[in-house]
Amino acid sequence: MTLKNDLILRAARGEKVERVPVWLMRQAGRILPEYRAVREKLSGFRELVMTPSLAAEVTIQPVDILGVDAAIIFSDILVIPEAMGLPYEMIESKGPFFPKTIENDKDISALLGVQAADELEYVYEAIRITKKELNGRVPLIGFAGAPWTIFAYMIEGQGSKTFSKAKKFLYTEPERSKVILDKITDATIAYLRRQVEAGADMLQVFDSWANILSPEQYHEFSGVYMDRICNELNHIAPLTLFAKGAFSARTSFAKMECDVIGLDWTMDAKESRQIIGANKTVQGNLDPCALYQNSKGIEAEVKKMLDAFGTQRYIANLGHGLYPDTDKYMVKAFVDAVKEYKS
Ligand code: CP3
Repeated sequence: MTLKNDLILRAARGEKVERVPVWLMRQAGRILPEYRAVREKLSGFRELVMTPSLAAEVTIQPVDILGVDAAIIFSDILVIPEAMGLPYEMIESKGPFFPKTIENDKDISALLGVQAADELEYVYEAIRITKKELNGRVPLIGFAGAPWTIFAYMIEGQGSKTFSKAKKFLYTEPERSKVILDKITDATIAYLRRQVEAGADMLQVFDSWANILSPEQYHEFSGVYMDRICNELNHIAPLTLFAKGAFSARTSFAKMECDVIGLDWTMDAKESRQIIGANKTVQGNLDPCALYQNSKGIEAEVKKMLDAFGTQRYIANLGHGLYPDTDKYMVKAFVDAVKEYKS
């Protein structure tokens, strides 16, 4: 199936584009009444993730409604801990919760590595259905959490501002931490490869809790594993690394085998370009809160952002996921402003 719109893939590979491609992290979700309508008919978030035809439906909604240049498969990073042996619950208006966490060596050896990828057939099926229904309109992005972020949820057992339990484990059990991180990396690589085999055109790895590690810790407990993911996968599909708040990681990511580096809004466009160099594409980085303005304000922000990043080797996005109370018309205003930008 040839793609009718492959802007994002060309931008990722550093080929010339006639305009800047745009999509948004968390574009499929509660900002869309159409998403909430599908979600309301089900027992909860997990059921939506595990029902391929419905996951495909909500994946495509933002392509139809917002006009974005890529779809991202509707799922969650927490399907990996579940497939490895630690099921998650999604508690309404609170977030993820793991009834079982890692307490001892027996729990560590019981975790599945590569074989975890066999447990996620429902994701591959959702990808196959989505690809068929998209019919080549835009590329489909597959994704996973970074090993460190997944580790953080597995040890902590829930969301946290500090993830101090997970960090305590790094400080007190560094070797055991690495055994777990290695297993998560094995599972993640196998899982992402299966997503590409099912039809994903591009991949993104989310390191949402990168910002709470020191630069040395980031290298030791995250960067090493990101590097392994890049070496195994970047040749099969363009790969984006997104490490929220990890200033130090920009330098090391610049040397890794990834095509795209995601930036959050605290990172300066020109400075980031300088650190990262001309051989990578950058993605980002508008503050999701900027979308609380009216459309005139949003257009001005988009102009500033595109003036700073330029139109080549660049993918427009937010600096983190959309907040659920964002007005969908303001999200559309963001997408339209990127599409209509003139330098
Ligand atoms: O549109 C998309 O971006 C694709 C779908 C997607 C979801 N989660 C759906 C979701 C993606 C890419 C994710 C990634 C994800 N999940 C991350 C990394 C990105 C980031 O935001 O930093 C993380 C840390 C998670 C874990 C997670 N999932 C949390 C902490 C929560 C609760 C917070 C919240 O927003 O409610 C979720 C739930 C979740 N994942 C929702 C959606 C649409 C909301 C649940 C609902 O619809 O009821």
